[in-house]
Amino acid sequence: MAKCLICEGSYEPFISFGKQPIANGFLTPDRIKDEYFFEMIVGYCPSCEMVQLVDQPERERMFNENYAFFSGTSKLMAVHFQKFYEFLRENYMKSPDPFVVEMGSNDGIMLQNFAQAKIRHLGIEPSANVAKVAQEKGINTIVEFFDEAVAQKVVAKYGKADAFYCANVMCHIPYIHSVAAGIKTILGPKGVLAFEDPYLGDIVEKTSYDQVYDEHVFFFSVASVSNLFGRHGLEVIDAIPQETHGGSMRYILAHKGAYPVSDRVAKQREIEKKLGLDKQETYAQLRRNIEKSREELVALLKKIKAEGGRVVGYGATSKSTTILNYCGIGPDLIEFISDTTPIKQGKLSPGVHIPVLPYEKFVEKYPTYALLFAWNHRKEIMAKESAFLAAGGKWITYVPNVHIFDKPD
Ligand code: SAH
Ligand code: TYD
Ligand code: ZN
Repeated sequence: MAKCLICEGSYEPFISFGKQPIANGFLTPDRIKDEYFFEMIVGYCPSCEMVQLVDQPERERMFNENYAFFSGTSKLMAVHFQKFYEFLRENYMKSPDPFVVEMGSNDGIMLQNFAQAKIRHLGIEPSANVAKVAQEKGINTIVEFFDEAVAQKVVAKYGKADAFYCANVMCHIPYIHSVAAGIKTILGPKGVLAFEDPYLGDIVEKTSYDQVYDEHVFFFSVASVSNLFGRHGLEVIDAIPQETHGGSMRYILAHKGAYPVSDRVAKQREIEKKLGLDKQETYAQLRRNIEKSREELVALLKKIKAEGGRVVGYGATSKSTTILNYCGIGPDLIEFISDTTPIKQGKLSPGVHIPVLPYEKFVEKYPTYALLFAWNHRKEIMAKESAFLAAGGKWITYVPNVHIFDKPD
């Protein structure tokens, strides 16, 4: 039995992915002997409906001055964050001198919009290397892990906030009650909390189990987010589905009673009931779907290898770490992984140690198949890879099921 991080109830986990390394822990060969692993187990708490990791490595192992994820690597994400900025500005920042706080602002991909508009802003980002990129762009950023104590310091220095937002960060934080209490403190009477994270409904529907890795401790739904923040006097006033990260949800919350609640909230909860997100059986089925996906992917890669084909991974995502380690896929089946992020290049992928090489190596000698680990950026990637298809290359994906495709969409 495990203990729920939200309500402290007991629950039975539904899957173990076995030993997993740090998903963003790309490493040089000399570090292999010290590589850290933890057992990655996921469960559903029937009392508060939260799907969660049972154990997570300590936060400094994941978020530090060598953090490998730079938000700015995707151009479409930059466009998405500009629109998110416009959405917040138009709807929730009507006061004469608004103040906005971002948790996990990374390289400033979203906060730069507020900075350019000369809106008072603060980024709170514990990974010093990515924070530095933002600071060099003139974005006000402090290198800290946000929690209740940091919230009090922020209020003392800047006053209350009109908006507190984050993207792909809330689901990373196991000490989430401290974060929620801090947000409650920071928000002015009409202030809003806006956040986006990969959506549980999409994960269940698409068997996108690669969303499970060390950093992702929670898999949110409108139901679980309402239960969690309701404990802190915050209410979900809107829930707006997003296409990013393979299917996300944007949650808008405010002090209870401060705003009318959009019809979308009840509608989304209906959808969640139809998907069975409140039923244990749904997660038992998810486990069976994951096991089937693993069998099919391994069988396909072995068949290609037997036929003399070359497979290269496309995008050394954190998500790929789960796939590779859970399926036991190593350099024998995948020659290398192509990635545009300099800090990942020349290193080995976590756990299974497939070389990560610059994108130019992919173009230099196209493989027979490219395994699309960055499937969430499919649109952006298909738009630029027509030459690969024209040269006879084919794509492999495992979302929503394992298959080969050779048309751009
Ligand atoms: N918002 C960006 C980055 C997401 S990656 C985007 O969507 O692209 C997650 C980020 O959260 C990392 O930069 C990590 O350093 C940061 N993070 C983790 N725990 C945090 C905490 N307690 N407070 C603030 N940031 C945190
Ligand atoms: P992403 O899917 O955003 O994140 P996560 O690590 O959360 O799973 O990561 C995309 C990775 O793919 C990142 O390392 C950059 C790389 N990438 C490319 O190599 N080429 C591309 O065209 C794109 C869009 C991403
Ligand atoms: Zn619970």
